[in-house]
Amino acid sequence: MNTVITFGTFDVLHVGHINILERARAKGDHLVVGVSSDKLNFEKKARYPVYKENDRVKIIKSLRCVDQVFIEESLELKAEYIKQHQASVLVMGDDWKGRFDHLSEFCEVLYLARTPSVSTSEIIEIVKSI
Ligand code: CTP
Repeated sequence: MNTVITFGTFDVLHVGHINILERARAKGDHLVVGVSSDKLNFEKKARYPVYKENDRVKIIKSLRCVDQVFIEESLELKAEYIKQHQASVLVMGDDWKGRFDHLSEFCEVLYLARTPSVSTSEIIEIVKSI
């Protein structure tokens, strides 16, 4: 089995999320997704996601291109998650380019181009302004 792992918040699901998950899955034959916890998001972005972690997990799990989902509790544990899931490829969006190169001692590290002109933060701003 060639396992690919990726991480993200995946709040207020949009087409950029689907694109990266489909492209990540195409890099192997089993896709594991670490969905960041509500607490981790608060630490990272100083706000809680709109959708609670269990709902975000349920939504991501329901996608055809996703095989397995877990809650990412800490940004510092990526190496542990990679080893635990025996991932051979780590996929991240290119907004993280270079930031995870040190993990190439455990698996191949790939940065895929983000889908232009869409993000959860922007959707939240648009909805607020309506
Ligand atoms: N992503 C992408 N293209 C976009 C938005 C996100 O490829 N237009 C990818 C990110 O690079 C990441 C994954 O989707 O690998 C999850 O990103 P996340 O941070 O949850 O989504 P954003 O829309 O970037 O959220 P925010 O605006 O809150 O930062």
